[in-house]
Amino acid sequence: NKKGFIFDLDGVIVDTAKYHFLAWRKLANGLGIDFTHEENEQLKGVSRVRSLEKILEWGGKTLSQDEFTSLMAKKNEEYLSYISTMDASEILPHVSKVLEFLEEKHQAVALGSASKNARPILEKVSLLEKFNAIVDGNDVSKAKPDPEVFLIGAKLLNMQPQDCIVFEDSVAGVKAANTANMISIGIGEKDVLHEADYVFKDFTEMSQEFVEAIISNKVT
Ligand code: G6P
Ligand code: MG
Repeated sequence: NKKGFIFDLDGVIVDTAKYHFLAWRKLANGLGIDFTHEENEQLKGVSRVRSLEKILEWGGKTLSQDEFTSLMAKKNEEYLSYISTMDASEILPHVSKVLEFLEEKHQAVALGSASKNARPILEKVSLLEKFNAIVDGNDVSKAKPDPEVFLIGAKLLNMQPQDCIVFEDSVAGVKAANTANMISIGIGEKDVLHEADYVFKDFTEMSQEFVEAIISNKVT
C-alpha cells in the first residue's frame, strides 16, 4: 500500500515556529500592539502577508501600502537572521526517523508549507532530498486554512487526497487538511489542535505501529 505523507515545515520538522514568534512579536510591539502566545497560535501556518494583516487588525492600525511592504521585509530580515545559523541539530525529535521509515516503506512524501523560506531551510538541515515533492509559499495563492497547498502536494505525489496524511502544528493547517479530505495529525497540544483526527505532542509519541496501521488502511 502506498500513501501520501505531507509534512508542514515550521513547528513540525524544525523548531522555527519560535523564530517566527520572536520576529512577529518584535514587529507588533514596535507598532505598540500586544502580542501574546495565544495570538501567535492564530498566526501559525498563516502566510506572511495575512499574518501582518491580522496583527494590524488586532491593533486597530492601518498602514500605507509602502509601510506594509517595508514591515514585511523587516520581519523577514529578522527571521532570516535567526535561521542563518540553523543546522541539522534543529530538526525536531524523531522527524528523521519517521522520514527514514517512510522511505523504507516506499511511501510518497511531500512538504506542504506556507513559508517562502522552506527550501533554504530544508537545505540547511540537509533534508531536501527526503521529499518527493515540495509545495511552499511560492507555489500557492490561497493561504491555509485553504486546502490548496495540500491538494497541490497530493497531485505532485500522484495520490488521491483521501490517501494522504498531513502532519501539522497549526490550527489553520489542521483545518486545511480536513477540508482537503485528508487524515489530519496534529503535532502539539490536544486542546489547541482538537480539530485534528489524531494529536501527538511530538513524533516521539507516535509509534511505528501507528504509521504501519495508516499505511495498511487500519487507521482512517
Ligand atoms: C509558516 C509559519 C508561519 C509563517 C508562514 C510564512 O506557515 O507557520 O508562521 O508566517 O509559514 O513564512 P515565511 O517564511 O514565508 O514568512
Ligand atoms: Mg507549522
